[in-house]
Amino acid sequence: MSNSEQTLSIIKPDAVERNLSEEIKNEFKKNGFNIFKEKKVKLEKSEAEKFYQIHQSKPFYNDLCEYLSSGPIVVMVLEKENAIVENRKLMGATDPIKAEEGTIRKKYGISIDKNSVHGSDSSENAKTEINFFFKE
Ligand code: CMP
Repeated sequence: MSNSEQTLSIIKPDAVERNLSEEIKNEFKKNGFNIFKEKKVKLEKSEAEKFYQIHQSKPFYNDLCEYLSSGPIVVMVLEKENAIVENRKLMGATDPIKAEEGTIRKKYGISIDKNSVHGSDSSENAKTEINFFFKE
């Protein structure tokens, strides 16, 4: 039985700025993800605050929102069987230093903040995050 699932992926400002969007999109395609929807946007800080509201009590919340709204990002709806878990595996650990060989964050990430990509961490958050960017 097919268990195709959707997840939200963001190519963050550090990667867009270094012209890595196409390379990173190819990583997803090579690993069997279908890029179902895609757009390039630049968020206002207030929008980044809304997107990351789940982290609002964290000490890094303000910097995180400043950063996500600091430049253009590419947001995508990715599809694959078990897309949420598969995308998290492909991205690697949040901190690029701890990410495994071959993962996107290991290859392209600069720091825990500038870690090149975001991916939904649960099916509930995937729905909320997809709806945030692609509300019809
Ligand atoms: P992301 O998957 O986009 O979700 C929240 C982001 O917060 C995370 O990636 C990191 O880039 C950023 N962040 C900054 N500091 C930390 C930290 N100490 N722990 C976890 N995430 C952090």
